[in-house]
Amino acid sequence: MATKFNENSMCVFLCVGCWLLVMCCNTQAHLNVYLNPQEVMRLLGVAAEVYYVREGHVNNYALNFVVPVPANVRDITFTWQSLAGRPLPYSINVVTSDQETLPRPFMNISQIGEIPTNEQTFAIGLKCSGARASEVDVTISVEVILNRALNNVTHLVFRRKKICLLAEFEENTVHGPVLLETAVPPPTGILTIIVGSSLALALVIILFLTAYCVRRSAKCQNNGQPMRTSSFQRLNTNSPCQQAGAYNDPPSIVGALHSSLPRKTEPQHPEELHRRISELTVERCRVRLSSLLQEGTFGRVYRGTYNESQDVLVKTVAQHASQMQVSLLLQEGMSLYGASHQGILSVLGVSIEDHTTPFVLYSAPNTTRNLKLFLLDPSCARAITTVQIVMMSTQLALALVHLHSHGVVHKDIATRNCVIDDQLRVKLSDSSLSRDLFPNDYNCLGDSENRPVKWLSLEALQHKQFSEASDSWAFGVLMWELCTYAKQPYAEVDPFEMEHYLRDGYRLAQPFNCPDELFTIMAYCWALLPIERPTFAQLNGCLTEFYAQVTRYV
Ligand SMILES: *[C@@H]1O[C@H](CO)[C@@H](O)[C@H](O)[C@H]1NC(C)=O
Ligand SMILES: *[C@@H]1O[C@H](CO)[C@@H](O)[C@H](O)[C@H]1NC(C)=O
Repeated sequence: MATKFNENSMCVFLCVGCWLLVMCCNTQAHLNVYLNPQEVMRLLGVAAEVYYVREGHVNNYALNFVVPVPANVRDITFTWQSLAGRPLPYSINVVTSDQETLPRPFMNISQIGEIPTNEQTFAIGLKCSGARASEVDVTISVEVILNRALNNVTHLVFRRKKICLLAEFEENTVHGPVLLETAVPPPTGILTIIVGSSLALALVIILFLTAYCVRRSAKCQNNGQPMRTSSFQRLNTNSPCQQAGAYNDPPSIVGALHSSLPRKTEPQHPEELHRRISELTVERCRVRLSSLLQEGTFGRVYRGTYNESQDVLVKTVAQHASQMQVSLLLQEGMSLYGASHQGILSVLGVSIEDHTTPFVLYSAPNTTRNLKLFLLDPSCARAITTVQIVMMSTQLALALVHLHSHGVVHKDIATRNCVIDDQLRVKLSDSSLSRDLFPNDYNCLGDSENRPVKWLSLEALQHKQFSEASDSWAFGVLMWELCTYAKQPYAEVDPFEMEHYLRDGYRLAQPFNCPDELFTIMAYCWALLPIERPTFAQLNGCLTEFYAQVTRYV
């Protein structure tokens, strides 16, 4: 428990600037910073304003959200206003993670200036060089000086992920305003022309890029004992995925994009997300909530029924949830849409009748509950046997074989994102609301992004490279959770140290009473090199074999 405290205090410590800000600003409304409705529409496909700072209150949740910027959106805008009764001095700095692909962006305000007392919208141009196809992180840091004498400065960090395509591909995209090169304001209405950009498109592209990190097959039984007591084993750190990595092979990426997306990147106008939502829309009056299962700061999970007869789990948000939280619930809740497999908790319907509290319904027997909470509950979990752990792992491995065969990388495999029923049938679910419901499982590492650090492979941690192989890594951690009744992995390790810790070859220790064979399978998932990790088909093979061994003597 000491560790939980440490993790929390670390996050609190990190965000201490924000906290101070929240506190000081409760007394003084001095600033608004938000995205106007046109901007939210073209980035997220919903009609809303998103406030980062409203009358001095900072919305950390919105700040933490990395907004993807689709390839055809060439500039992003922010709107702000000083409420202090005088212009407030600011400085702004924009940094991109890959100068070659996305050269230093231009802005139509100066780097140091004053926030006016009337609303001002400014734009930051993100024009890719076209030299490479890649996702580039854009970090926009703003300092607002409230009081020079008191050294009262507000720091805000906004994050965007810009999708860049190769020049050849770029040429065919819809041209957004090129105002930043010509410094001529665009005709009014230009924003509505480029509204076509869609988050769904961005997600599809990300998916292709990440899924590209192909692995060569590695056999289950090879190399004898992979890292049995690997806690002290040092491994080769030369990852091929970093070199021939997720984005570095343009021809195939373009090929993949080309074959699946219309070449004239006129993105599916009523975008994918909206299409999915409309396909799945159910009437609110048919949903009956029976009991509250989980509650976070704004997220809620209920048990309920649909149409009086069908048992469902319902994920929703509280009335006070922001528009950003609402659209996150919908996006993430929809991420496994269309996956139909008995090992996957699939979305049955959504309701967005009342825009502030959408429901996402999942079809699930009424004994279904969250797997992590189940494991933490001594009255349920203590009786679980090794055979049952192997069976549960196998069900999940099969679900992942299914997802991966459809090119979907889950990216957040953990017991908190699974459910279990009274027959011990487990299903993999999406990760919507998990940051809110399991805050201790996510850490911010100074980049204001809350990530499941202790479940991430080294390349996911360092370079945010996700692939089937990073899913295998997380699955190893999930198996470890199953064996430890959902202990916190690496409880004693500071999240900031994880990268070094993993690079130096340290791994989770073998749980008490976890058979060697089972631990060998887990440890195999934690091979440093992505290509050396087992695929889920191989994991399924290993688990099935082990199952046969254990049950032979029962
Ligand atoms: C910057 O450009 C945007 C267009 O995207 C425009 O709305 C805004 O008024 C411009 N701001 C300034 C300060 O010129
Ligand atoms: C500046 O900080 C002081 C405390 O150091 C606080 O009392 C004051 O409210 C802050 N001023 C503003 C404008 O927020």
